[in-house]
Amino acid sequence: MAYFSVKKLLKDTQCVNTTVGIKGWVRTRRGNKNVAFIALNDGSTIHNIQIVADLANFDEALLKQITTGACIAVEGKLVESIGQGQAVELQAETIVVYGTADAETYPLQKKGHSLEFLRENAHLRPRTNTFGAVLRIRHQMAYALHTFYHEHDFVYLHTPIITASDAEGAGQMFQVTTLDLHNVPTKDGQVDYNADFFGKPANLTVSGQLEGELGALALSKIYTFGPTFRAENSNTPRHLAEFWMNEPEMAFYDITDNMNLAEEFLKYLVQWALDHCLDDLQFLNDMYDKELIDRLKSAITATFVRLSYTEAIEILKQSEQKFEFRVDWGTDLQSEHERYLVEKHFQKPVILTDYPKEIKAFYMKQNEDGKTVRAMDVLFPRIGEIIGGSQREEDYEKLKQRIDELNIPQKDMWWYLDTRRFGSAPHSGFGLGFDRLLLFITGMTNVRDVVPFPRTPMNADF
Ligand code: 4AD
Ligand code: MG
Repeated sequence: MAYFSVKKLLKDTQCVNTTVGIKGWVRTRRGNKNVAFIALNDGSTIHNIQIVADLANFDEALLKQITTGACIAVEGKLVESIGQGQAVELQAETIVVYGTADAETYPLQKKGHSLEFLRENAHLRPRTNTFGAVLRIRHQMAYALHTFYHEHDFVYLHTPIITASDAEGAGQMFQVTTLDLHNVPTKDGQVDYNADFFGKPANLTVSGQLEGELGALALSKIYTFGPTFRAENSNTPRHLAEFWMNEPEMAFYDITDNMNLAEEFLKYLVQWALDHCLDDLQFLNDMYDKELIDRLKSAITATFVRLSYTEAIEILKQSEQKFEFRVDWGTDLQSEHERYLVEKHFQKPVILTDYPKEIKAFYMKQNEDGKTVRAMDVLFPRIGEIIGGSQREEDYEKLKQRIDELNIPQKDMWWYLDTRRFGSAPHSGFGLGFDRLLLFITGMTNVRDVVPFPRTPMNADF
């Protein structure tokens, strides 16, 4: 017997009037005393396939087990449906129950659970329509990302997850150690890291950028894509302790090339979602966010606004808007400020450049004014910062001076500085928060709802 996915059976007209098999989870069951209608889903599509079972043909004990959440295999004839709501249905000839789901205890027995409830049942939420849609879109976005870079001759570089460097200098790192925390070896009153696995302190990476630069200064165009870790204790709808970041790094790109790439890339991803995920987007649009699809379309047609941090501060100061955090030249923008610019003032995506050097990382290229650096943040509606990037300082002396000013130990940075000693080149790159991209594409409002297993403070169960 040939088994097919629900997606294929619903789409492929060649299957009609043939005998086929299907395996999946029961979404609903209704019917009367003669016949059962079973809506079956296997995660291949948001749509269910309707199974029609003539009760006379099946054992009562078996029929009893076909409840919401049960996993079954069905063989039968696929026919055009005369009922409303579906083009085809499967007339069941045999049914095998793989796994029952007790109606009394199955947490997803009822429909319409809140997203909070589903977060507490994250082990089962992939079985819901919402998470099926989100996870399929997440897959499509990862695939689109690789496709985009591949088509543009980038090399996918696997940067390490365990590292001894702190790329962003923000110090919000998870330490990696095999030392016995109940019996930490010490030397002169300090932890003796010679006894640790790597012979020095190590942590989970906050960014693959510094290693990415090593790749770009050899292969010209590279990208990383993997998990990154930040121990910021911020319980916001946009922060995860473990999140996926994509970081392209390009030799010979200046900040304008960098902005152009970021804009082209984001539009490509949004277009891909509209081209490949419309069923799922339509579901999310209908259920959660009536403006979702329109918002996605307008992100593709909009020309992103480009302006300097200094100009943005002027706009914010002159706005009538009451902000929780005050804005002054030199302070970091809060998400309320970013969203004001994008959602109220310009009403389209904005790329801010030339931030004060004090609020940005040590590696950014210094401008002539001595005050600002060639940073760029891409701000999106409903999200705020979705991309952070910059042109990098390629001048050895300037970079070394900044490292000294910030008291970053040079002994940890010699390998990075070496790239500026040997065959240095202008180069640029950025980091896309993949989970934030998913927030934008799906219209979900909490980043915990676009990642299969969110890691946030006090939450790392499964
Ligand atoms: O702006 P960030 O910190 O930039 C970097 O890490 C650079 N090394 C990137 C580069 O130039 N190669 O982070 C980049 C993006 C942010 O714009 C945001 O979208 C996302 O990563 N991000 C987070 N997403 C979820 N949870 C968190 N805790 C995040 N922190 C940053
Ligand atoms: Mg940033």
